[in-house]
Amino acid sequence: MSDRPVPRRGISEIRGHMVATAKAASTEGIFIASNESAYGPGNPAREAIITSAGGVERYPEDGTARLATAIGARFSINPAKICCGFGSDDLLARLARAYLAPGDELIHTLHGYPKIPNYAYANDANPVAANDKDFTADVDAILERVTDRTRIIMLANPDNPAGTYLSGAGVRRLHANLDGRVLLVLDSAYAEYVDAADYEDPTKLIESSNNVVMTRTFSKVFGLAGLRVGWVYGPEEIIDTLARIGITFPISVTALAACEAALTDRAHFDMVVRENHRIREMFSRELSKLGITAIPSQTNFVLSQFEDSQRATAAHAALEAEGISTRRLTGGDFSTCVRFTMGTETEMTRCVLALQRWRETCD
Ligand SMILES: Cc1ncc(COP(=O)(O)O)c(C=O)c1O
Repeated sequence: MSDRPVPRRGISEIRGHMVATAKAASTEGIFIASNESAYGPGNPAREAIITSAGGVERYPEDGTARLATAIGARFSINPAKICCGFGSDDLLARLARAYLAPGDELIHTLHGYPKIPNYAYANDANPVAANDKDFTADVDAILERVTDRTRIIMLANPDNPAGTYLSGAGVRRLHANLDGRVLLVLDSAYAEYVDAADYEDPTKLIESSNNVVMTRTFSKVFGLAGLRVGWVYGPEEIIDTLARIGITFPISVTALAACEAALTDRAHFDMVVRENHRIREMFSRELSKLGITAIPSQTNFVLSQFEDSQRATAAHAALEAEGISTRRLTGGDFSTCVRFTMGTETEMTRCVLALQRWRETCD
C-alpha cells in the first residue's frame, strides 16, 4: 500500500523523446530544430486566424465535422473516414489507448520516430524495437518481431529523425503478411514533402483493408504547428472508436478557420514544397562538400552524420554559439548525428557558412 496516489506502471518509463535545445532562438537567431515550416501559413490562413477572433466565445461544436469535410475535398477522400485531433500526436496516442491493453506489444523501428515507444508505455504495453537498415524500416525485421501479443505496428513514413522512407511495395508487403488483428499505423506527418517515385500514398491500402490507418498533420507543410491540428484516415469503425475517446471539441475555432483557409491555398502549398526540395538539395550538397554525410531525405529536414560523436557535439555547440539551434539526438546510432530542419535559403546559407567556419577551426 502506498501513502500517495501512484500512476500506472508504464508511465515512469516514458522518456523525453528529444534532447532539449539549449536555448530558444533569439529574434536574430535561427531555429531549425523542430521540423516546423520556415514559411508559416499563407496569407489567407493568417487572415482567417485574425477574423476568427470574432467567434472565440463559442465552442467549435461542428469543428471536427467541418474540418473533415474540407480535408476530404482537398485530398479526394471520404470525410466519414477522417477523425481530427489536437495534432497528430493526439491521434497516435488515442490509437494506442484504444487498441493496447497492458502487456500488449507495439512494434516500432529502432531508429524510427522516438516518441513511438512512449505511446506503448502510457498504456502499460510493451514497445518492441525492430532493427532497421541504414536508418530505414526493414519489413522482414518487423515481421520477425510479430507475436501473439502484437496489436500495433507504428511507423513514421517518411521517418523522423532520419528522413528515410519505406516504398509503397514495402508497405504493401508488410501489410500482406499481417494478421487482421494487428493495426498498421502509418504516421505520415511528412507525406506532402515526398517526391520519391516508389513512395505510395496509403489511401488505397486503407480503403481496401480493415487494419490500416494513416495520420497526417497541419504542423509541417501547412505551417500551423502552433495551432495543433492533425487528422487520421482509416476504416469507419476505427474512426468511430477514436472519436469516442477524444477530448470535447479538439479543433479550436481559430484552428478550424486557419486549416480551412490553408487547405484551399494551393499556391502557398506548392511554393513550400518546391522551396523545401530546392533548399534540401542545396544544403545536402554543401554538407557533403564539408565531409559531413547527409542522409537522403524525403522530408523538410536532413539528418547529418559526423565522423564521431565529439565532432557532432562540437558542431552543434558551434552553431548554437552563433544563434543557430539544431537538434542533437540520443540513443542507437544517433550519437554522431545532428538534424537540421530546412529553413529559408538565407537561414540555410548562414548555417552552411557557420559550419564552414567550424570546420576550419576543428581539423
Ligand atoms: C514523425 C512525426 N509524427 C508525428 C509528429 C507530431 O506532429 P503533430 O504536430 O501533428 O502532433 C511529429 C512532429 O514532429 C513527427 O515528426
